[in-house]
Amino acid sequence: MGLSETLAKLRKIEEIPTLPSVAAKVLEVANSENSTATDLNRVISQDAALTTKTLKLVNSAYYGFPRTVTKITEAIVILGFNAVKNLALSVSVCEFFNKADDNFDRRKLWLHSVGVAVTTGLIAKKLNIPGDNEEAFIAGLLHDIGIIIEDQFLHDEFIESLKVAKEKDIPIEHAEKEVLGMDHASIGKKILQSWKLPGNLSKIIGFHHEPQYAYADTKRDTAIIYIADLICKLKKIGFDGDTVIPKLRVEAFKALGLKKEDIKEIAKDVDEELKKAEDFINLIEN
Ligand SMILES: [Fe+2]
Ligand SMILES: [Fe+2]
Repeated sequence: MGLSETLAKLRKIEEIPTLPSVAAKVLEVANSENSTATDLNRVISQDAALTTKTLKLVNSAYYGFPRTVTKITEAIVILGFNAVKNLALSVSVCEFFNKADDNFDRRKLWLHSVGVAVTTGLIAKKLNIPGDNEEAFIAGLLHDIGIIIEDQFLHDEFIESLKVAKEKDIPIEHAEKEVLGMDHASIGKKILQSWKLPGNLSKIIGFHHEPQYAYADTKRDTAIIYIADLICKLKKIGFDGDTVIPKLRVEAFKALGLKKEDIKEIAKDVDEELKKAEDFINLIEN
């Protein structure tokens, strides 16, 4: 399939309301400048399952609060508006990952995605990036969302891409370009734009395999996702379509001022961090 055919198919995908309605509402609140904590609380609280699961994440070992947080309003005070918004989004999007068949196990992609999300947190910590890193976390969770879209809507071509990647021992994004004319990073970028997720997210995700081409204003965050992805691939956390070790892009290391030794140190902490993030991984088990 050539690029124009892929684009024609994608245009159709954009017409499909793929984002769950509750997630769309969370986004609406999040994207509006006038939204308050009360608005966010109202949207989340309207959905009992979303409330329960969001609170479970708030109380997970990942955040390590000494006492139990029982209300969304309380979570917003403690964790902040953005953090709770992103947790609610994580809960809403994880259902896309809850499917396994003989060709592809999306649950392994979820594990990979949670791995990348927590690794972005470790990188941010290493770099002493001030403020909240919630956007980097959700970018980690969503960075391979294009794969889900392919699996769902361009299924035959996706299966063919998986085969090509395996046979030629090349990264999935290269195989996709051969088969589909574009890769899951570009597809992810398009879908996030059509879901109206914050602009930076789609920019970051669009170049997660090509940090050298990242937008100037998202160079750092694209490099963080790229390196987090690299670490998770080295550590074989989950599966995102291939088992090839990605090429080391010096640009990404330079953009962050990280050395190879730093990467080793971060990689060492990932297992411990993933253990703490068990509740995130288990989101799709029930
Ligand atoms: Fe990817
Ligand atoms: Fe990935």
